[in-house]
Amino acid sequence: MKKIDLDEWVSKLERIEERVGRLALLSQLSQLLNSTLDHQEIRRRAMEAATRLMRAQVGSLLLVDEEKRQLFFEVALGDQEEEIKRITLNLGEGIPGWVAKNGKPLIVNKPEKDRRFLKGVDERTEFKTRNIICVPVKVKKKVIGVLEAINKEGGDMFDLEDLSLFTSLADQVAIALDNARLYKELEEMFFQTAESLADAIEKRDPYTGGHTRRVTLYSLAIARYLQLNPLEKKWLKIASVLHDIGKIGIEDQILRKPDRLSPEEFKAIKHHSDIGAEIIEHIRQLREIIPGVKYHHEQINGRGYPEGLKGKEIPILAKIVAVADTFDAMTTDRPYRKAKGKEVAIKELRRCTGTQFDKEVVEAFIRAYRKGELSKPKVEGRKWKAEG
Ligand SMILES: [Fe+2]
Repeated sequence: MKKIDLDEWVSKLERIEERVGRLALLSQLSQLLNSTLDHQEIRRRAMEAATRLMRAQVGSLLLVDEEKRQLFFEVALGDQEEEIKRITLNLGEGIPGWVAKNGKPLIVNKPEKDRRFLKGVDERTEFKTRNIICVPVKVKKKVIGVLEAINKEGGDMFDLEDLSLFTSLADQVAIALDNARLYKELEEMFFQTAESLADAIEKRDPYTGGHTRRVTLYSLAIARYLQLNPLEKKWLKIASVLHDIGKIGIEDQILRKPDRLSPEEFKAIKHHSDIGAEIIEHIRQLREIIPGVKYHHEQINGRGYPEGLKGKEIPILAKIVAVADTFDAMTTDRPYRKAKGKEVAIKELRRCTGTQFDKEVVEAFIRAYRKGELSKPKVEGRKWKAEG
């Protein structure tokens, strides 16, 4: 019977344990990469994952700029990050350029002897590359970037096991980046659709052009001083774009009336906030913006509509849209009155603070105004009319 060499077994066991550990790390890093849809965050996590998984001194992600046929450092680690970010490589140039051009991974354990190695990057960053592992990041067989790790810890060389793990990580990075891109495209398409819808409604009324854009601009400027979280800001943006969508249900003769509205007509136009909420209720994903649309004509003193909510009962999105909406209404011409100057409108907002408008929202608006953050959007609007 063959004698068992205990040392050999221990060493084998340790290797297996190490492999399992690295696989577990790969799985953990992959989950982390795919738990966000934020493109920038994925890029940062990819770089950190590259460093940890390869036990390297630095890791970086280079992305392909297809138009320029170049690679640029998206993120890098360490003190030289800013310097590295300024460096671009042509496809085929340097080790990352070669990997991007050929779509194949590469380990270079003696870079000074490899003709593909560019000394310039080290010289610019005062960094000494001892060894490098570099793999392509591919989406549907197309190279969109390159993941690299430099200088394996402990003076070791990168090996085939590293290559296999790094390739798996690059696949996960590719999936995460592609998901984020698709999500962003979908979101952009949605915003554009919402804007087109708002634009179509504005076009029914010759006086309201540009109103939606300005209200959105003002609302987002207010949000910057109210510490809204990114998700709330996103809802606010959509609520601002769609705040008057209910006007689609208001008759032309009222909406397009060039004169002041009669009490009956005003009563009719007041329905637009409820109509807007009803339209949006059909879209499950937009539930969060309903308060912003439905209550944007409520007032702090309870004299607004549709429900006469008071103070804290009024949702924050609605309070913000109300200030943005009113400021734009005041500072644009109506057929029956001229626009007020901006300073006059600000005074008016202040005067109505605590009765019509929320104090914090008005203060945030004024701070944004004083800092010049309410400059006119690119598309100049026509004139404004309806009290809606
Ligand atoms: Fe309105």
